[in-house]
Amino acid sequence: MSRIVRAFTRAETRPRAIVWTGAALIIAIGGFAVSQLVTSQNWFCNDVCHVVHLDNERAWREGSHNDITCMSCHYPVNWNPVSFTLDRVDKLLDIFPTVTKSFHMPVNEYSHVALTTPAEQCTQCHALDTRVVTPSPGIVINHAVHENAGIPCAVCHNRVAHPEDFELQLPGNEKKADFMSMTACYRCHTLEESSPSGFRATGECSACHTPELDLVPMSHDVAGWFTERGDSRGHAEAALAEAERVSSAEEAWEEFAPEFYGKGPRFFARLAGVEHELTVDVPPPATINECFTCHARQYCTDCHGVEVPHPEGFVGEHGSRFTPSADAQSCAICHNPTGDAANDPYTCTLCHHPQWQRDAGSWLATHRYVVRATGGGECFDCHEQAQCAACHTSDDPASFELY
Ligand code: HEC
Ligand code: HEC
Ligand code: HEC
Ligand code: HEC
Ligand code: HEC
Ligand code: HEC
Ligand code: HEC
Ligand code: HEC
Ligand code: HEC
Ligand code: HEC
Ligand code: HEC
Repeated sequence: MSRIVRAFTRAETRPRAIVWTGAALIIAIGGFAVSQLVTSQNWFCNDVCHVVHLDNERAWREGSHNDITCMSCHYPVNWNPVSFTLDRVDKLLDIFPTVTKSFHMPVNEYSHVALTTPAEQCTQCHALDTRVVTPSPGIVINHAVHENAGIPCAVCHNRVAHPEDFELQLPGNEKKADFMSMTACYRCHTLEESSPSGFRATGECSACHTPELDLVPMSHDVAGWFTERGDSRGHAEAALAEAERVSSAEEAWEEFAPEFYGKGPRFFARLAGVEHELTVDVPPPATINECFTCHARQYCTDCHGVEVPHPEGFVGEHGSRFTPSADAQSCAICHNPTGDAANDPYTCTLCHHPQWQRDAGSWLATHRYVVRATGGGECFDCHEQAQCAACHTSDDPASFELY
């Protein structure tokens, strides 16, 4: 240091000192500028750093924004050079996992990136008040209400720049949920009283669909989806599978949520001013049961009459909850589905007294033949002797006499 000072203070070395210092400064600034430029190019993001983003980059190439730089969506709008520099320092931390291929897979689980992307990232190019939006046939969208509710673009358009319509190649990577699906709209829209997120908007079909759309999905066309007095296993299997899928998705989300909410910018990124705040708090679409996007739960219960699958303890308590006269008919849709409709009101008896033959007369009038033939022992799986005795005088079933 003192040598440099001396070079400047001695008259004969001063001109050379000034020239060399100037040259060094120009090289440093030039080098810095070039390094900024180079590290801001798409090829740098894609080819140098982002082996980890192999799939992601291919998706970008196939998307509608493949002539838009990565930076315009992934770096805060109008960032200053200091922030850029700090961010590059932050990126150095990625070299080790990239080189050793020890990065975390799958990338961007649960679309953390989308849910931390602010609207201005998109509105720097898109002005929706002037743009004519042409939704797909049958779909209605109202951008203004969402903007007013503070819901940024990527909460719906999450895959706009990275559509994953191909087999992913990176081992361990997984496709992200598409927030443009109807099920993802039902993170906030719902037919029920309360929604899965902090937002609640209408779930009525007419809000998002024009009248010409056929509202019954193709899944419902399969044989055996629902047949009056016939095979209805189709919808039952689909509902059971969906309930199963949702419950494991909920479990996985519950396990991952602490990490998801705990995600924040690293030290240098934070210094650079990266926010990383969630723009909205919505659950993953996988935790939404698809049946209950189009159907209120009550719709199912109205047809079933009871909770299905029957809840725990149901078998033991149904005797006190239901009566033959009021409820047998509704039990019939499942417990006498393909049988004679005339037997529906006797569904309790169809189950309890399978030996009953309607043509022979009422159970009351005909149980005698069953007891005579079988000895009546199985009757006491359900009945106390005293119940028989209420009508009969003897304790011995085989020799019951009427009182
Ligand atoms: C038009 C805006 C836009 C452009 C351009 C863009 N991205 Fe993205 N990118 C997004 C959004 C939005 C997400 C969030 C996706 C999600 O969370 O589901 C994302 C997600 C990602 C992710 C997380 C992994 C994933 O697939 O979800 C990576 C990595 C990424 N982008 C890298 C890049 C790279 C590299 C480029 C340039 C080649 C690029 N992006 C260009 C908007 C953009
Ligand atoms: C640097 C400018 C730029 C940025 C940033 C940008 N877009 Fe675009 N976007 C375009 C251009 C250009 C097109 C193609 C012309 C058009 O459709 O307007 C386009 C097209 C679109 C389309 C219609 C095509 C399609 O694939 O559905 C949507 C939707 C869209 N952008 C959403 C977004 C969202 C959401 C973001 C923020 C994550 C974003 N854009 C960021 C420039 C941009
Ligand atoms: C609540 C969900 C939601 C939000 C939030 C949202 N959009 Fe959309 N956007 C849609 C839907 C749905 C469509 C119609 C897509 C279709 O039917 O193909 C659409 C259509 C568009 C289109 C037209 C695409 C085309 O092909 O004409 C553009 C552009 C667009 N959105 C940009 C944006 C931008 C920019 C923002 C943020 C300011 C935004 N959207 C916020 C759901 C949303
Ligand atoms: C993050 C929450 C959220 C998501 C996700 C969301 N919406 Fe909305 N939506 C709202 C809110 C909030 C309103 C306004 C409700 C109100 O004012 O009563 C709304 C209102 C609407 C309206 C106007 C309803 C009316 O009363 O006419 C339409 C249309 C709409 N959304 C379409 C969509 C579509 C399509 C999607 C999925 C692509 C979607 N929304 C996803 C929160 C959301
Ligand atoms: C909040 C907006 C919204 C509401 C409310 C809504 N939908 Fe949708 N719906 C969508 C969007 C967006 C799509 C296109 C994306 C997709 O296919 O998932 C769609 C697609 C569909 C499709 C075609 C997809 C398929 O599986 O064949 C059907 C059918 C449908 N909706 C039925 C309904 C019915 C029935 C209701 C009322 C109970 C309803 N929708 C309410 C947003 C909505
Ligand atoms: C995209 C919307 C949509 C989804 C998702 C959906 N349904 Fe439906 N479903 C409908 C419509 C629309 C009808 C006709 C309702 C009517 O006629 O009143 C219907 C009718 C039914 C019926 C009555 C059949 C009949 O012929 O009357 C059953 C049972 C049913 N759905 C079960 C299910 C089950 C179980 C699921 C989930 C696995 C499911 N639905 C998912 C839209 C949907
Ligand atoms: C129109 C009447 C009707 C409607 C509406 C209906 N179901 Fe069903 N459901 C039945 C019938 C009949 C069965 C008996 C099917 C069988 O076992 O053959 C059944 C059986 C089931 C089962 C099987 C129970 C078990 O433990 O095996 C499930 C689950 C189920 N339905 C779910 C649903 C859901 C969810 C909805 C609403 C989205 C729905 N159902 C709507 C008539 C209906
Ligand atoms: C699917 C067959 C089935 C149907 C339908 C059914 N039950 Fe049962 N019920 C049983 C079985 C099995 C038991 C024995 C339960 C046990 O082991 O405790 C039972 C037990 C009972 C009991 C004795 C309960 C107790 O406290 O131990 C009563 C009372 C009863 N049922 C009433 C009814 C009535 C009333 C209906 C019609 C509304 C009905 N059941 C429909 C199968 C059925
Ligand atoms: C939507 C179809 C459906 C309806 C409606 C229904 N059940 Fe069931 N029920 C089932 C199915 C499926 C099973 C067998 C699987 C199980 O235990 O959940 C069952 C099992 C039972 C059992 C246990 C039988 C045994 O042997 O352990 C009893 C008791 C029963 N139901 C009573 C009733 C009564 C009482 C009603 C009317 C109030 C009724 N169910 C209505 C579908 C239905
Ligand atoms: C699975 C349990 C169960 C078994 C096994 C059972 N019962 Fe019952 N029984 C009931 C229930 C519950 C009722 C009252 C509800 C009804 O009417 O179905 C009943 C009612 C009766 C009634 C009165 C019917 C009326 O109309 O008032 C007679 C009689 C009867 N049982 C006889 C028998 C005989 C005899 C047997 C043996 C062959 C038998 N039960 C086996 C559960 C059972
Ligand atoms: C609600 C009253 C009632 C109950 C409870 C009842 N029974 Fe009966 N039982 C009758 C009537 C009434 C007859 C005569 C039917 C006829 O001949 O028309 C009868 C006849 C019989 C007979 C034939 C008697 C003979 O001498 O021919 C036997 C055996 C019998 N019941 C066994 C049972 C058993 C076992 C139970 C208890 C599980 C039972 N009953 C419960 C009313 C009842």
